[in-house]
Amino acid sequence: MADLASLTQEALAEVAACGDLGALEDVRVRWLGKKGTLTEQLKALGGLSAAERPAAGARINEAKEKVQAAIEAHRSALALASLERQLASGRIDVTLPGRGEEQGGLHPVTRARLRIETLFTRAGFDVASGPEIEDDFHNFGALNFTENHPARAMHDTFYFPDGRLLRTHTSPVQIRALQAQGAPLFVIAPGRVYRCDSDMTHSPMFHQLEGLAVDENISFANMKAVLHGFLQAFFERDLAMRLRPSFFPFTEPSAEVDMSCVFCEGRGCRVCKHTGWLEIAGCGMVHPNVLQASGVDPERYTGYAFGAGIDRLAMLRYGVNDLRLFFDNDLRFLRQFRAFGA
Ligand code: FA5
Ligand code: MG
Repeated sequence: MADLASLTQEALAEVAACGDLGALEDVRVRWLGKKGTLTEQLKALGGLSAAERPAAGARINEAKEKVQAAIEAHRSALALASLERQLASGRIDVTLPGRGEEQGGLHPVTRARLRIETLFTRAGFDVASGPEIEDDFHNFGALNFTENHPARAMHDTFYFPDGRLLRTHTSPVQIRALQAQGAPLFVIAPGRVYRCDSDMTHSPMFHQLEGLAVDENISFANMKAVLHGFLQAFFERDLAMRLRPSFFPFTEPSAEVDMSCVFCEGRGCRVCKHTGWLEIAGCGMVHPNVLQASGVDPERYTGYAFGAGIDRLAMLRYGVNDLRLFFDNDLRFLRQFRAFGA
């Protein structure tokens, strides 16, 4: 019998030298396989006396187990190392942006709307909304446009065959909010409106900002203060504001809101057609018929309302000279607003 101790040492040294699982398997076959060196030792037992055989057999098995245990320990060490290498090389930083992904930004009209909502919310107004597909009652009837009122013609309305329509202004939200919540009520309602209308300052779809304040003792002066305060805050500068008498069926008295031109500070330029003023909204005291149609007692409550063009406000704040640019979805135009704050 070969020297079992030195054979074992040799086997253990080979196991320890294995750098990968394949080499380790070769070593296992060479030493412990059917024809492996240590297995062969068992065959030599036949040449021993019956008295010597059990002890010799036990020593050989002990040697085989020792080598087997070393192989198993080395195998798990190699497997662990290989897993660690794989993890290290395949590590991904999930916080990295995707390849070729461009960072988007808010549309300038959305920015303007959010800014408006922030300012009015701070002043105590809630934000309300209503459907873009309206019925005649909410868009016209309840707003005191009688059946053949000439002001209906001013609203180039898109009608559906069933008589419903795309709302031409956000004023129907006045009715819906009053019906739902009653008085006192302080809301703004920004949203999309539609008119059959298109040129440099008119687009068939545009955005309006409705404002409505109804309570006891609400006055025209309250409205003027809120509107002036809003314009100063929105444009972040000292602006003059003036009210010109006007007409809306749903307000009485009614006015147009002008503000001093943000481009020339009132000196007169092309944008303001050399008047020094820009028209920004319509407004007035809520007509008693409107309160009545919405179930609010006009003897007890008064209110003011206003309607401004959000797209116009955005044009003036961001210095855009053609309204249609907002709706062309040209990335070269929209990208310029990515860096803007509000
Ligand atoms: C109205 O729509 C009234 N509902 C406003 C109102 C509300 C008055 C509450 C009194 C009380 P007007 O049609 O003037 O009014 O439109 C209001 C604003 O919307 C205009 O000052 C303008 O800024 C904007 N606007 C009107 N038509 C267009 C258009 N085609 N494209 C872009 N903006 C428009
Ligand atoms: Mg107008």
